This record gives sequence, C-alpha cells and structure tokens, in this order.
Amino acid sequence: MKKNDIGVIGMAVMGRNLALNIAKSGYNVAIFNRTINKTKDVMLKCSEKNISPYFLIQDFLRSLKKPRRILLMVQSGQATDDIINVLTPYLNSGDIIIDGGNSFYKDTIRRSKDLLKNNVSFLGVGISGGEYGALNGPSIMPGGQKSAYDIVKPIFKSIASKFKNQPCVAYIGPNGSGHYVKMVHNGIEYADMQLISEVYIILKNIVNYSNKEISDVFDIWNQGELNSYLIDITKNILRKKDHNGDLIDYVLDEAVNKGTGKWTCQDALDLHESLNVITESVFARYVSSLKSQRMLASKILSGPNVSLVSSHKDDFIEDLRKALYLSKIIAYSQGFSQLGSASKKYYWNLKCHEIASIFRSGCIIQADFLNQLVEIYKYDNIIINLLLSPYFQDISKQYQSSLRKIVSYVVKQGIAIPALVSSLTYYDSYRTSQSSANLIQAQRDCFGAHTYKRNDKSGVYHTNWLE
Ligand code: ATR
Repeated sequence: MKKNDIGVIGMAVMGRNLALNIAKSGYNVAIFNRTINKTKDVMLKCSEKNISPYFLIQDFLRSLKKPRRILLMVQSGQATDDIINVLTPYLNSGDIIIDGGNSFYKDTIRRSKDLLKNNVSFLGVGISGGEYGALNGPSIMPGGQKSAYDIVKPIFKSIASKFKNQPCVAYIGPNGSGHYVKMVHNGIEYADMQLISEVYIILKNIVNYSNKEISDVFDIWNQGELNSYLIDITKNILRKKDHNGDLIDYVLDEAVNKGTGKWTCQDALDLHESLNVITESVFARYVSSLKSQRMLASKILSGPNVSLVSSHKDDFIEDLRKALYLSKIIAYSQGFSQLGSASKKYYWNLKCHEIASIFRSGCIIQADFLNQLVEIYKYDNIIINLLLSPYFQDISKQYQSSLRKIVSYVVKQGIAIPALVSSLTYYDSYRTSQSSANLIQAQRDCFGAHTYKRNDKSGVYHTNWLE
C-alpha cells in the first residue's frame, strides 16, 4: 500500500484546510481527528483522491512514510500536550512532530527538549492566513531543528503563499523562534486592526460619513502606500448588507481575543521593550468587552459634544491617512524591535529581512509597506529603530504634524483613540533628548536611597533630599 507523505491531526478549520492544501499540492495526506465525525465530514466534502482518513492513531501512524512527518493542528495549550502524550509511545527516532497551532513559544521550547530525549524532532511553526490562507497559501514561520526543517521544506514551499513566485516560508531559527515570530506577527495585527478601527470611528463620528463613504475612503487609500490585506477587507466589510441594512452596524462592539496579543505584551515587559501601541490595542479589546459597564458610564460620566468636521474635509481625511500610516510604521517598528531583543536574548539570529519578506503574502498583516522593511533590513539587520532609517525618517518628517493634528482634534471631541495617541506618545518620547526621568530618579533616591547618576560627572550618588 502507498504510504502517506504527511499526517495531519486536528480537523477543525485550519487543520482541514491545510490538509486539503497539502493534498492539492500532490502529496499523500493522512488525516486524523479525536472526534471521528469531523474526519468523516472532511471526506464527505472533499474531492481530493490523495487524502486518507484514519480513525485509530496507530493506523494513522502506520500509514506514514519514515521519518514520519506529523502536523498537529489542535488547540494550543493542554490539548497539544495531550496529543503529544498520545503519540509519544509510538514515535521512532527521527520522526518529526510539527506544531502548526498558536502555541506559546516557551511551551514549544519545553516540548522540543522533551521530545529530543527520544530523538524525535519538533518544529514549532507559525502559520498565518486564517481559513482562506490555510487552504490557498499561508505565510509559514518554522522554528526548530534545521535538519528536521529541511525534511519538511518541500511541502511547506509547495503550500505557502507566493509573493512574486517566491514562497512565503523561511527557516526562522531554533526552538521556539517560529512561534515567537508568529506571536509578534499577531501583536502587530492587533495594532493594525485597532488603528484602522480608530480611523473608522473618526470618519463615522467626526466626519459624519456613511459606511459606504468610509469604505470608499479605504478603497482609495488601498491604492497607495497603505495598501494592505486589512484595509482591503475593511473596505469590503463596510459594504456588506443584511436584511436590516449595513451589517457592520449590527455587530456587537465587544472584541474578543485568543491571547497571542497578550503574550506579545507580556514578553515585551520582560524584554524591556516599549510596545505601547500593541499593548494599548490589547487593552482596547479588554475595555470593549466591558459593554454593560460602558453603557452605564456613558450615562454618568461627562465629556464634550462632538463637533463635526464641516469644512476642509479632504484636508482632514488626508491628515488622517498620514496619521494612520505613521502610526502603522511605529507599531511595526516596536514589534520588530521586540524581535531583535528576543533574538539577542535567545541567540536565535533572526533575519528581519526574511521575516518581513514572508509577511508579504498569505498572512493577515500582508501589506505593500513590508517591501520597505525588506529593503531596510537587507541593508542593516540590526538597525536600532526603523524610524531612524532614511525612508521612515523622511515619512516621519512629513507626517508627524498630521498625526499630531488628528490626535489633538479627536481627543478634544472625547473620542477614544488609544492606539493613535500612543503612537504619537511613543514618537515624542523617543525623540526627546531631555526627558522627565531625572525627577523619577530623584524621587527613587529620596524615598528609597536607590541612588542616581549625574549628567555632569560620572559616578553614583545619594542625597538626603528632605534635609
Ligand atoms: P479552531 O479555533 O479552528 O476551531 P482549535 O480550537 O484551535 O480550532 O482546535 C480544535 C481542534 O483541536 C479540534 O480538531 C479538536 O478535536 P475535536 O474535534 O475532537 O474537539 C482538537 N483537540 C482539542 N483538544 C484535543 C485533545 N485533547 N486531543 C486531541 N485533539 C484535540
């Protein structure tokens, strides 16, 4: 009997679509799901001849070519440990487990070490692109043993999205690095989505545009430097109708999350990275979920009346476009800076130009703007801050006043725009040569004798400030 090239475990949306994608690329695929009906359902709906269902894990494993390549697409966390425990007794030296879920990178490092004791390789692979990308070509971020990656590379290259014929997959680095890059990708995605949503609410509540008019604005922007998947889908979302009218007006304003944004921020704190735009975007989701409290507070807490933009609307909208672009640059700059710090801490030797390069197609944050990042990082992989690259310096010079105008106008109207405000705050904090931290150091020394340094001579000092 013909052996399968790879086995996929977990037939929820992502797993099923990846299995179909691999089969479409010509590989023989074994599929397995804990609940048998889901496997049967895949077989009922798919026409691929080279997919074979298995209902016993032993049969599934027996059907695979050696070394066995097993792609896990199960829930992250305990479920991933559970399925690895189920597989472990049957695994042989050289077999490769590939975790394609959104696992926390420290779990990936732990699992990799455990499996290596039995000479089983483990790849922690970030896969972005959602349901559509999984089926038609995702962006793939594999981390783990390079020798194991080389064995699965042909499959990944076949199924990955293509940017100008180049597959959007690149070996990221050792254990945990693939899931780390995916985690930061998701953090950036939170910021991108939050910034776009803030622009939407400004156009709606301050410019007084209809959903159709807002969609048209995004459509025009999507033809310029803001071109991206997220702007494109936003344009389409705003046009979607249901029997009541525009569907967007009936979507409950409570954003949920699966935790990758939170992990990115938690890790930024550990690395001392100033990740305020992504962090505010996570907090914005948390505040959004307090719907009943917000309803109550809206009746109790006062704010200004909104004064609509009535004249020079086109100028305001152009400022808004520039504000969005500069804020996006700042969010990416923070995310990539975090990648640089993690790379140093874990000796991953991350190649930022390759990471930016595989984000250009297949994933949720794909955008034209990433071409700039590829060029910048090709030239200098350890640039201290993207804002200091000549291209982004120039954009900042031209766009910072627009971001400032938008933030001050909208804040005066009492409309919450946490990501835009934090972009500007970061921008101004970063370009400040003399900050207020001298006072903080003096306070620390005053109440806790924590000492301070002086700017006129070297050494460490303590003063009795209250004497
Ligand atoms: P999605 O978000 O796309 O729905 P998910 O929640 O990340 O997917 O993963 C769900 C998959 O993990 C399912 O295939 C599920 O199997 P069942 O259909 O039997 O529920 C699988 N899964 C969850 N816990 C599991 C476990 N302990 N062992 C094996 N598979 C598990």
